[in-house]
Amino acid sequence: MNFYFFRCSKCLGIRQNEKSKKLQKDIFQFNDFMDRHYLVGTQLTVAAHCTINATIRFMDKIKIFAPATVANVSCAFDILGFALESVGDEMIFSKLDEKVITISVPLGSNLPSNPEKNVAGVVAKAMLDTAKADFGLHIHIDKRIMPGSGIGSSAASSAGTAYAVNKLLGNVFSDTELIKFAMLGEALASGIPHADNVAPAIMGGFALVRSYHPLELIKIPVPDELYCTVIHPQIEVKTENSRKILKKNILLKDAVTQWGNIAGLIAGLYSKDYDLIGRSLDDKIVEPVRSILIPLFFELKQAFLSAGALGGGISGSGPSVFALSKGKHTAENVADVMDSVYAKTGIDYDIHLSKINEQGVKIII
Ligand code: HSE
Repeated sequence: MNFYFFRCSKCLGIRQNEKSKKLQKDIFQFNDFMDRHYLVGTQLTVAAHCTINATIRFMDKIKIFAPATVANVSCAFDILGFALESVGDEMIFSKLDEKVITISVPLGSNLPSNPEKNVAGVVAKAMLDTAKADFGLHIHIDKRIMPGSGIGSSAASSAGTAYAVNKLLGNVFSDTELIKFAMLGEALASGIPHADNVAPAIMGGFALVRSYHPLELIKIPVPDELYCTVIHPQIEVKTENSRKILKKNILLKDAVTQWGNIAGLIAGLYSKDYDLIGRSLDDKIVEPVRSILIPLFFELKQAFLSAGALGGGISGSGPSVFALSKGKHTAENVADVMDSVYAKTGIDYDIHLSKINEQGVKIII
């Protein structure tokens, strides 16, 4: 037998209904509903006037993968980012009876375990306080994205926490609310609550911050054949510092070019016009300033364009550099030429090749 559920309009709890056709819009098939709203093993909350009664037993522990992200996407400073598939942090969240937050990090990692100084602790506390939770949390962070890498290290911890804590609370917050909580982590990390890493980490794919006040986010479709190659030179560039060097005023003619490129990039993503995407990956405002922080930036760019990449630029606040390509083969060629350019620098580096991650943070076993 299929069970259907819908939200009770009185108590916003969940009611069971086997037949109603009228409520089709709000009805979910049992499995789909459970997948989308609760972890397996949870039961549903209802008020007395609802037809079924059930007790809640939410999950006590959850392990997640939180993806690395490329923010700015060249021309769209602070308002666009996308998530990667092949690199990210793993985090385990366990409920505690006592209302405290504790954090553990692998030995030798440089991360603070003081929850007030760790982005995960700050995000978790804000969520538990807001939800008036009657439990505490232990968070274990297996950090695979180096801080100061430019591929959303603080964002992965912040977004991963927002997603996981919401699951443990029984999905009480919307995606936009989760992104607002995750932005608190970004504020702690860089002094600026920017959303262009945490939004794609939570929503997956390309996420556009249409507005910060009020926060409005738009998920942009991902063309099937789009691949990203990222080189991460192992030098630390703090977002806070690489923001301080940016110009406070820009020329109107540069702004006009930039607006055209941002609009072109979004149009290219919607219409799967790879050449338009490539032409639009051009940053007149931030790249000319920040590129001085990245050894051999222009050689890298020249090399990946010659290897057939559509375009690319600085990933987030650097030092990572990304290139987008049509097809895996070209993305592999791009990885090869990035490797050739950096092999001669004496700087350690990683290269990641990834499809665009359309899911964002996910539960892993
Ligand atoms: N938009 C932010 C910046 C991203 O460029 O400062 C940081 O990853």
